[in-house]
Amino acid sequence: MSVLDIKNVTKSFSTTKAVDDFTLTVGDGELVCLLGPSGSGKSTLLRMIGGFETPTSGVITIDGEDVTRVPPEKRPTGMVFQSHALWTHMNVFKNLAFGLKLRGLPADEIKRRVEAVLELVGLGGYGHRQTTQLSGGQQQRVALARSLVLEPKILLLDEPFASLDQHLRERLREEVRDIQQRLKITTLFVTHGQDEALALADRIVVMRDGRTEQAARPDVVYREPATPFVAGFIGTMNLVDGTVANGRFAHSGFTVPLPVGDGAATLAVRPEALEIVPASGAGMAKIHRVTDYGTHAIVDIELPGGVRLKSMTREARDWSAGQSIDLKPRAFAAYRDNAAIHRSN
Ligand SMILES: Nc1ncnc2c1ncn2[C@@H]1O[C@H](COP(=O)(O)OP(=O)(O)OP(=O)(O)O)[C@@H](O)[C@H]1O
Ligand SMILES: [Mg+2]
Repeated sequence: MSVLDIKNVTKSFSTTKAVDDFTLTVGDGELVCLLGPSGSGKSTLLRMIGGFETPTSGVITIDGEDVTRVPPEKRPTGMVFQSHALWTHMNVFKNLAFGLKLRGLPADEIKRRVEAVLELVGLGGYGHRQTTQLSGGQQQRVALARSLVLEPKILLLDEPFASLDQHLRERLREEVRDIQQRLKITTLFVTHGQDEALALADRIVVMRDGRTEQAARPDVVYREPATPFVAGFIGTMNLVDGTVANGRFAHSGFTVPLPVGDGAATLAVRPEALEIVPASGAGMAKIHRVTDYGTHAIVDIELPGGVRLKSMTREARDWSAGQSIDLKPRAFAAYRDNAAIHRSN
């Protein structure tokens, strides 16, 4: 049973607040993905949990024990860094054995554990290889194995597959998920790939400027983004700024019923929920481009004022560039002052 508790943690570097009053509990065996743009504080947070940075304020506990100022090698954490750093002067076996030797384990025990973990990450028999003789994907597996071999209570992964191609990344993340579930390790996984987060996470924490923008299950983050920032960050989202008057949202290109008080609002519509029809009158929206993906088509739409929207449709051949259309959002959310004020379905 391993629970990670991060309480009101702040990290300042001179004038920058890299992490700003951040609070999160990661439950026993849970896999939480930290998702956010570059510079939002993901690595800094992970490094503080691993003991490679000290918080300016706040407390980090693991199973109730305060580890805020405990050095990395004394923490029950294992970390795989953003740029993996294998020891190139040691072979794979020695890379994995190093931490166990430091702990004073007997040689036969070390051998047994290293071989078992190499099997686990699909590198059985690779112990004698030099790390320079491995592919990028194999090196990442060694980095993962080097953390796992220490049997950490908390596994910290900082974009471990960022340097790999899409195909390999997908395969490795599924393997990580399998291993994590088999070993039931409490895990924090940093990524700025939203697909990765949606595929892996029990819970997603969207970070912005060192703070939590939303923390929720992947389906909730996708379907009910709490703020326009989250809405725009996860998946493709059309965001249109307009004005509500008398129960209708209006932008120069179109209008929809929106039962909220008068004032400014931002409408958020997924491409798959933005239906288009041929213009009934003098349509204000025009098709800019149609891209045919075979299974579906993406129609790029231009509104007056240069606003661009995307609509997903079944049939590319129904539409052509330059055509005037009307927009029929089937489902949408509306935001005001950075909070959701309406969701239709
Ligand atoms: N050692 C440091 N000294 C000064 N500023 C730092 C230091 N480390 C990080 N920062 C700053 O803190 C902020 C958060 O950085 P961090 O590396 O945590 O972001 P990140 O979310 O991991 O970004 P990325 O997705 O690019 O890896 C950035 O503005 C960064 O410049
Ligand atoms: Mg980072």
